[in-house]
Amino acid sequence: MAARSARERAYAPFSKFKVGAAVEDDGGKIYTGCNVENATYGLTICAERVAVFKAISEGASQLVRVAVVADTPELTPPCGACRQILWEFCGDAELILANLAGASERLRMSQIFPRPFDKSFL
Ligand code: THU
Repeated sequence: MAARSARERAYAPFSKFKVGAAVEDDGGKIYTGCNVENATYGLTICAERVAVFKAISEGASQLVRVAVVADTPELTPPCGACRQILWEFCGDAELILANLAGASERLRMSQIFPRPFDKSFL
């Protein structure tokens, strides 16, 4: 899957924790991302945000599916910051979590991100 091969391109020399993500837009186009760390640590960006920002900057508007792959027995979910960014563009989309051992789970964004703040409040 796209997220799995994106994970191989992760730049994670500090944490050694490699993550791959893929997002699909409403036209079926897939955009991938990997985490990109930095010596400052704080400027590190997660795989999910790289994928979303690539998608938006390349013309996608509505994202309909998200996949995240890491090498953890318990499937790795998006961090809090990524949940907020994902919600902005995919709302209650399908989220697939997977690991390298072949385990996977399908859920909805609202299961991991209930009661979001979004543009409906503005
Ligand atoms: N990371 C992601 O890329 N996505 C997640 O969902 C969790 C964390 C990255 C950030 C950092 O490079 C490393 O994993 C350890 O936190």
